[in-house]
Amino acid sequence: MKIFFYFEEDKILAKKILERSNFEEGKFVLRQFPDQESYLQITSDVKDKEIILLCSLNHPNKKALDLMFFAQNIKDLGGKNITLIAPYLSYMRQDKRFKDGEAITSRIFAKFLSQHFDHLITIDPHLHRYQYLEEIYNIKCSTIHSNDLIADYIKNNFHKPLLIGPDSESKQWVKSIANKSQSDFVILEKIRYGDYDVDINSSELEKYQDHQVIIIDDIISSGSTAVKIVKDLKKFNFKDIIYIAIHGLFAKNSYQELQNLGIDILTCNTINHISNKIDVSELIYQKIIDTCL
Ligand code: R5P
Repeated sequence: MKIFFYFEEDKILAKKILERSNFEEGKFVLRQFPDQESYLQITSDVKDKEIILLCSLNHPNKKALDLMFFAQNIKDLGGKNITLIAPYLSYMRQDKRFKDGEAITSRIFAKFLSQHFDHLITIDPHLHRYQYLEEIYNIKCSTIHSNDLIADYIKNNFHKPLLIGPDSESKQWVKSIANKSQSDFVILEKIRYGDYDVDINSSELEKYQDHQVIIIDDIISSGSTAVKIVKDLKKFNFKDIIYIAIHGLFAKNSYQELQNLGIDILTCNTINHISNKIDVSELIYQKIIDTCL
């Protein structure tokens, strides 16, 4: 028997998954004491049951301790085999010591989650210098790809699309979505100087004036990549610019800033946000059935 828990922030996606399933919905109370310590009470009977927890890992620092309390409490209460579904998996971009003394937080975070969970399900993790999650996670890892969903969305909604990848890291997504949606694509070169400082060479785009341009990226975080490329496209007089990201983190006021540039921003619902247009719930449900049952 399986129990499906979810953190409040992921309620919309959780309900879509639950609608498709016959999982029991897990009940628990998680709140902050006035001093900001966490209070957790699991009210479902979890003894000898298999546990699934949905918690997307945007704002990971805030959530990490609660995840640990949850997993440890489940174990104390006799629950077994805990699967964490993190549609967005954080700390994947710090995959190298770029400067002396830097923490390779992807490894440390992977070790942390691997200590508390038995299985991880995630969607399009940012695999750049690592080829597989198992290089840093020592638990079972199951990866979902949103490429088909995004390609279908493009096929059904846009005419003569040109897909643009803002940097070499986006090639893995853009190339596959372009193949599946029979679209042209271009991968640009990006240099990042700092969190909010990027340079992208987009001069080759000028010749695609007759296309519907769609930028595809895995993550919008600070929004710097998106703002830079959209401003360039505007210089070339492209209208109706579409930006599709798998994971919309939208730090600070980046969503507003992008909206002010007059573009359409679409994301997958891996992180709950007003821009969610592409629904991954069926893929998650299917992955649970394939890997947990
Ligand atoms: C690059 O590594 C990623 O594919 C994204 O382009 C990047 O993470 C976006 O970050 P930001 O929104 O901070 O420019």
